[in-house]
Amino acid sequence: MQKGEMLYEGKAKQIFATEKEDEVIVKFKDDATAFNAQKRGSFDRKGEMNNAITTLIFEYLNEKGIETHFIKKLDDREQLVKKVSIIPIEMVVRNYSAGSMAQRLGIEEGIKSPITIFDLCLKEDALGDPLINDFHVLFLGLVTREELDEMYHLTNKINEILKELFDKMNIILVDFKIELGKTSDGKIILADEISPDTCRLWDKDTMKKLDKDRFRRDLGDVTEAYVEIYDRLKTALNK
Ligand code: C5P
Repeated sequence: MQKGEMLYEGKAKQIFATEKEDEVIVKFKDDATAFNAQKRGSFDRKGEMNNAITTLIFEYLNEKGIETHFIKKLDDREQLVKKVSIIPIEMVVRNYSAGSMAQRLGIEEGIKSPITIFDLCLKEDALGDPLINDFHVLFLGLVTREELDEMYHLTNKINEILKELFDKMNIILVDFKIELGKTSDGKIILADEISPDTCRLWDKDTMKKLDKDRFRRDLGDVTEAYVEIYDRLKTALNK
């Protein structure tokens, strides 16, 4: 696979062209940012772990009938994916209170929600990815009502599959964020990544945080937490 010019550089990933019009290479970096890039850092093996973890999760979702952009892992840091245009909406799912929702509502973290909570954020760094609702999405013309309904349906299905998978790993899937993209023929599929960077993952017995909150909150053992998730994922999937 011939790696072409860099098409895009984000906070944690780079995207490269390939000789095929409809395929690109994603390279996972060790850089980490938090709080809209006000906190910056880098930690060992992050890129390698997020690439490996996203690979296992996307392969598993594919097996369960969820179409993703993932084609194949190329090496420690790179994967080949279908080219999509990313819908500029972050789909956040919450099964327990935590993070920005706990803060916004003035409630404790770790309260189990009786219903699945969806938060939408506009992907716009300059505005700090503000929380938006369905009305804003339609007002901005980001997608149609039918497409938005499909996005909720897909996100909900992904949550159901992942909750069960993490449960097998003795982990609570507290919340996570996904990004969806449109293929050239207009199909909405899962893109970006699913990793400890984009999920809150707590050990069921100890409630230890095994995700990016270790970096955000200076809790230490960041690399160890990502490796732990990778190891438990491999065991759960017999890989
Ligand atoms: O910060 P907040 O509580 O809204 O985050 C909810 C979930 O979405 C967390 O799992 C967090 O890691 C993820 N997230 C993300 N990228 C963002 C914002 C949130 O992966 N830009």
